[in-house]
Amino acid sequence: TKDPLVIFTPSGKRGNFPVGTPILTAARQLGVDLDSVCGGRGICSKCQIAPSFGQFSKHGVTVADDALSEWNSVEQRYDDIRGLAKGRRLGCQAKVQKDVVIDVPETSQVHKQVVRKRAEARDITLNPTTRLYYVEVEEPDMHDPSGDLERLIVALRRDWDLPDLEADLTVLKALQPALRKGQWKVTCAVHLGDDTFAPRIMQVWPGYFEGAIYGLAVDLGSTTIATHLCDLHSGEVVASSGIMNPQIRFGEDLMSRVSYSMMNASGAVEMTTAVQEGMNALFTQIASEAQIDRNQIMDAVFVCNPVMHHLFLGIDPFELGQAPFALATSESLSLRAIELNLNIHPAARIYILPCIAGHVGADAAAVALSEAPDKSEDLVLVVDVGTNAEILLGNKDKVLACSSPTGPAFEGAQISSGQRAAPGAIERVEIDPVTKLPRFKVIGSDLWSDDPDFAKETASTGVTGICGSGIIEMVAEMRMAGIVDAPGLIGTAEQTGSPNCFTDGRTQSYLVHDGTATGGPKITVTNRDIREIQMAKAALYSGARLLMDKFGVDNVDRIVLAGAFGAHISPKHAMVLGMIPDAPLDKVTSAGNAAGTGARIALLNRDARAEIEDTVHKIHKIETAIEPRFQEHFVNASAIPNAVEPFPILNS
Ligand code: FES
Repeated sequence: TKDPLVIFTPSGKRGNFPVGTPILTAARQLGVDLDSVCGGRGICSKCQIAPSFGQFSKHGVTVADDALSEWNSVEQRYDDIRGLAKGRRLGCQAKVQKDVVIDVPETSQVHKQVVRKRAEARDITLNPTTRLYYVEVEEPDMHDPSGDLERLIVALRRDWDLPDLEADLTVLKALQPALRKGQWKVTCAVHLGDDTFAPRIMQVWPGYFEGAIYGLAVDLGSTTIATHLCDLHSGEVVASSGIMNPQIRFGEDLMSRVSYSMMNASGAVEMTTAVQEGMNALFTQIASEAQIDRNQIMDAVFVCNPVMHHLFLGIDPFELGQAPFALATSESLSLRAIELNLNIHPAARIYILPCIAGHVGADAAAVALSEAPDKSEDLVLVVDVGTNAEILLGNKDKVLACSSPTGPAFEGAQISSGQRAAPGAIERVEIDPVTKLPRFKVIGSDLWSDDPDFAKETASTGVTGICGSGIIEMVAEMRMAGIVDAPGLIGTAEQTGSPNCFTDGRTQSYLVHDGTATGGPKITVTNRDIREIQMAKAALYSGARLLMDKFGVDNVDRIVLAGAFGAHISPKHAMVLGMIPDAPLDKVTSAGNAAGTGARIALLNRDARAEIEDTVHKIHKIETAIEPRFQEHFVNASAIPNAVEPFPILNS
């Protein structure tokens, strides 16, 4: 008679196996994704399965109640200690008796999908570079004298098919006591290696290590440093935290930091120290939040713009301050945490994504990894809005990239009532088309300013200024209400019919909020503010338009706004302003912190590292500074929305 049939769901993989074959063994032979850290010794519980019984029309199998071997003492012990959910068995203990259908729950899959935030965002398939392996090592033998490390490596090769591993002195020092204490059973953290480092054992624990190991995905921005702490086995984000970049004291924007390093002999070193110290403070904070030891952090991925990249690594950013903006290297980097003075596990490895070009950094590469324009059927424009906008345009045939100097206006800087996005900042605006009077909402409150309870509701924050997304809405609303004309001039009260327009020196301004009811400052939009926004949005648009020229298209299929700021922009207002190209509004989406997501993908999936390295080589960089068409587009794009382009979709 034939051996019993084993069918796995959801994969549908099937095969016949002799009676007594453990399900884990069957899964491995069929290439079914079933997890195991202890190698089938009934210790880790990662191999849980859910056998199904009854008639399965889908698979045409009738499964008897005794299709699997009986619940054994190992499962009983596990259930007593930690409890096994109803209907679950340990795949390494349950053995085939008769035809059976086995469901592998999501949590027991090694390559489980970790994230699905938005329909168009990619999932993360878990495949980390650093992992835990449990092994039983042969005891030493007088007749066959080999070192403990050599026998450990043999065991890891035998049970886990790992290549020959290296080990640092710290591992060697801990190895002998760990083996003896664990009675020749140990758990090893292993870094599987990359282009720079050979695969190596990073730490050894006696017996089965019940703890977890973690990795950091770090988005090192010029203003903020944001990080996610991820469990490397489950892929879960266990804590997220951020701080202001301590380099701000050397200069708000990147170019002022580059000049600080040019003017001061030790400038670059000071800034490197500041960011590394800030990072360590952040790591301490996030570890204590997650109640873990910093030494459990064994992997980290960094994304950053080129200047931050050099300053973090301790490379003088001098060359990035002048044409032709040569990077020290644009390739990805794999480094030791100690080389960067980072206080995490001493053997931890740091991976930095590749840079695309002198102005388009590893953060843009991370956005490309997260948004995957190179895999898109339709033509997608990805815009990461910051003081320097990074722009990608492409589809599966080709991807173009450029950066455009938008300046700090979108962060509220250089705007008379501008401020960073913080409680009290105006973030939503409407101007009544008839009365031409504004109403607004501030961060931290749900009420509109014309609500009778508004002053009470905002008593603690006040109304303090206008943030970047607020100023975009403001200018767009002013344009729609006819308060600002296409060239960007604010009209007089007579011309516009708005009592809030007033003469301000030699130009006009528009009163948003007089401050008396909320006891705060008077908030106005001046003609200079409009100019600043025109410059910033024109820079952004011309970058995108230039890429469209290079691609040979007049329209894109969809637009993704990336970055923390992008998440708060109203697509309609951005289009009224002519900040982004004309497109159906429902085709404009926000990706949130796509650079941070890209960092997390590279942290949790080692194949993604190779993938982005490859993709970056294929992205065509366009240097806006040397393209005459850029200037032409810039001049036209200074008008609201544009002097020559009609925006037919928006107007329909
Ligand atoms: Fe570890 Fe089954 S594989 S308990």
